[in-house]
Amino acid sequence: MLQGRVTVNGDVVRELGTKADPAADDIRVDGRRVKQAERPRYVLLYKPAGYVTTRSDPQRRSTVMDLIPGVREYVYPVGRLDYDTEGLLLLTNDGDLAARLTHPRHEVPRVYEVTVAGVPDAHDIERIAKGVTIEGRRTEPARVELAPGRHTATATLRITIAEGRNRQVRKMFEAVGHPVDSLKRVSIGPLRDARIKPGQWRDLTADEVRALKKAVAREPSGDGRAGKRDSRATSAGRETREAAPRRPARPRASAPRQGRPAGKPRGRR
Ligand code: URA
Repeated sequence: MLQGRVTVNGDVVRELGTKADPAADDIRVDGRRVKQAERPRYVLLYKPAGYVTTRSDPQRRSTVMDLIPGVREYVYPVGRLDYDTEGLLLLTNDGDLAARLTHPRHEVPRVYEVTVAGVPDAHDIERIAKGVTIEGRRTEPARVELAPGRHTATATLRITIAEGRNRQVRKMFEAVGHPVDSLKRVSIGPLRDARIKPGQWRDLTADEVRALKKAVAREPSGDGRAGKRDSRATSAGRETREAAPRRPARPRASAPRQGRPAGKPRGRR
């Protein structure tokens, strides 16, 4: 300040202790605007199929940002869901949390409900649970369960994975001859919400933010590979090694809001 490097609304300010409001005043150091730090924002969106998980799309398709027009903070999606995939997506401006959530070291389990062509048998399920090779690399152990009920032309399963490879669930089922018809993410670590509808969003509760931070604070005890810490049976009656998804933190505090009506995205895939 004493060197005359600070300006407030164009005037050089040298007096130490001068007050200014970064929200209202134009404060600059060496000509560069000093912005007010944004409050951290954590948005849980139910992404419908037909939206791209990105802040902006060169092809001008609808993006998940179109669904949260009321959010003024610079939030961005944590990880991605395919254009055709629906389900829970977290958007935040908390860079540290986002980096931890997407880092494989933290092994945050995501649960997907998947409907596939045909009915995978016990052998197929075991193969997926133990790991299949996609693009030359084996997937980590996963938890896979056939949903209860009758399955004929298609089957519905739940799969829990902690990796985030491109189109991973689709490729895993394709690898055993059961292409995916539809895919929905139902939880991200401790986050889940069975009541939120496609296209709706809400802020996380303070408890959910705490639970999420706790989930990524732990360092893995073993070799850092997903699914090494727990041992559970699949519906096929075989053992897989998969970290179980943690319980939800708490019910939501606020009602979800609706962005663009679901099912009316712009453009095509
Ligand atoms: N796996 C997929 O195949 N697609 C998704 O969107 C997420 C996980």
